[in-house]
Amino acid sequence: MVIVDEKLKHIAFIMDGNGRWAINRGLSREAGHTQGAKTFERVVKYCGDIGVKCVTVYAFSTENWSRPKSEVDRIMLLLERYLDRMMKRMDEYDVCVRFIGDKQPLSDTLKKKIQRVEESSGGKTLRLNIALNYGGRAEIVHAVNTLISRGTCSVTEEMISENLYTADCPPPDLIVRTAGEQRLSNFLMWQSAYSEFYFTDTLWPDLKEEDIDLAVESFYKRTRRFGGVLKSEAVPKSPH
Ligand code: FPP
Repeated sequence: MVIVDEKLKHIAFIMDGNGRWAINRGLSREAGHTQGAKTFERVVKYCGDIGVKCVTVYAFSTENWSRPKSEVDRIMLLLERYLDRMMKRMDEYDVCVRFIGDKQPLSDTLKKKIQRVEESSGGKTLRLNIALNYGGRAEIVHAVNTLISRGTCSVTEEMISENLYTADCPPPDLIVRTAGEQRLSNFLMWQSAYSEFYFTDTLWPDLKEEDIDLAVESFYKRTRRFGGVLKSEAVPKSPH
């Protein structure tokens, strides 16, 4: 088990490979998401245990509505069940759960459950962002439109950052994507400008605590320059 420090405050996960995990076993894609939801709970708990302050997961993108209805329905049902469990065990976790994305098209039942959990979870130990009906481009457009509606004529980077769904979180230090794909898929596009990426072939439902350790160890081997140079890398002044 690794322990993180202030260099790794925020890990974001693209939970890919649920469908393939299920098909490999002759199961329905829905069964893959059910298993994926179990992995999600384990991963969030483990991240909290190792000292991560903020976790963001990509549960459902603005593009995922094009999937078969049975699959969309299962993901929404899994979220409802998770929220029900969270509500019952709220006292056990010092967590702050927030949904990022456009909630408007969600069912009334799901919206109510989200509202209840968001209002009752104000914990400080771990912030959990669940990206649902989320798209990075849509988020930036939303931020700009919010500013325009307040009469802003020109925007700065700070103004956009302050109007994103994640305004009160640090940007992700590390983005982990499972199942072998190496792309961002419209996830945290603005916030990921200086994130480190970790890709693994492991399918999301198979992801274990040891795999998170590997991702964290990989992160700590990286040199982050944020567009600058380290003091140790600066060219010494020429004597001439
Ligand atoms: C991507 O795998 C996964 C999703 C689009 C859904 C992720 C949802 C969950 C893990 C369950 C959500 C529930 C909670 C409680 C957060 P894929 O289906 O695209 O996999 P594939 O590429 O192998 O087909």
